[in-house]
Amino acid sequence: MKKIVLAYSGGLDTSCIVRWLTEQGNEVICFVADLGQGLGQGEDFAAIEERALAAGATKVYLKDLQDEFIEDFIIPALKANAVYEGKYLLATALGRPLIAKYLIDIAHKEKATTVAHGCTGKGNDQVRFEVTVGILDQKLEIIAPVREWEFKSREEEIEYAQTYNIPIDVTKKKPYSIDRNIWGISIEAGVLENLEQEPPEDCYLITKSPTQIMTYPKYIEVYFERGVPKKIDGKTYKLKKLINYLNEVGGFYGVGRTDLVENRLVGIKSREIYEAPAATILHIAHKELESLVLDRELAHFKEIVSLKYAELVYYGLWYSPLREALDSFVNSTQKYVTGSIKMKLFKGNCMAVSRKSPKSLYKKELSTYGKEDKFNQKLAEGFIKIWGMPYKR
Ligand code: ARG
Repeated sequence: MKKIVLAYSGGLDTSCIVRWLTEQGNEVICFVADLGQGLGQGEDFAAIEERALAAGATKVYLKDLQDEFIEDFIIPALKANAVYEGKYLLATALGRPLIAKYLIDIAHKEKATTVAHGCTGKGNDQVRFEVTVGILDQKLEIIAPVREWEFKSREEEIEYAQTYNIPIDVTKKKPYSIDRNIWGISIEAGVLENLEQEPPEDCYLITKSPTQIMTYPKYIEVYFERGVPKKIDGKTYKLKKLINYLNEVGGFYGVGRTDLVENRLVGIKSREIYEAPAATILHIAHKELESLVLDRELAHFKEIVSLKYAELVYYGLWYSPLREALDSFVNSTQKYVTGSIKMKLFKGNCMAVSRKSPKSLYKKELSTYGKEDKFNQKLAEGFIKIWGMPYKR
């Protein structure tokens, strides 16, 4: 008999896992991480706990990790402009190492030798969980029941859950696999596997359809201090509130939908739909502000770092020396990233329309074509001659 701490979501897979592991004579303790999956509406954690116990868990830990998730994972990724394959803002990928960290913590507290997760053997999340556990405590054993159990379909799992009276909410269940947290939603499977089909409206949970928005544009001004969003329209917000607010407003204007065929770590391509209104608004605004305050060389070099940063997050290498080193670089670039960007949200679009910063490198007297021009155009002639000199034969 083993004492196993399971990363438990309350869904069908992890509920069946509780029963499956218990049946084999193990003691199962469930860990539910709150990363804001209620998306400001609140999640029914009491029902999740009840389900875990009904499935056979001896104990349930619930931890609100939202603030730590935001401060230690989301904000660093935002400062780094980390975007995977040009589109994915990494909500799921950022959450995994944090969940794994607490899974290990609870295993230590409970003197358990083993941890378990409900990820499929075809995905990235198994890698993120297990690599993190391996880095933070290589003595812990890891079990991934979905990779080895006998169930071949959702229906078989539902039947199994019903046999053991595990209260599963199957009627409301849409035919998608969904992962949610405060930074965004990842949606896959079902009809989305057909690349020729446009995602049906029913796969979206928090964004309105851009074609159905019958209203005027909405302007919002985001103020950043050293790369961190602090105010909206002049009002100071704590980060959790700020993100929840932008998810709500952005969602109402249809902002933050993405449809991506991505390269998974395990070598396959898969199609995933993402909804991330707040993350989209903040990424765009942050990048716009950087355009204003970072010099050309720093800005261009930072783009290379962004690419690498996003890969590390996607690949489950959060707790790696390179990620830490990149954070030091990124933090030093944020010294001047203070200022306000006014965004216009309309029919799924989100663009900057006004910019200001006390650290701006933009000098109107140099760029203007008007008569207040101070740029000495005569100097350009010599500059061009020297610039092109190496290429003349
Ligand atoms: N493709 C995303 C990633 O690897 C999300 C994975 C989870 N998606 C899901 N629909 N359950 O980070």
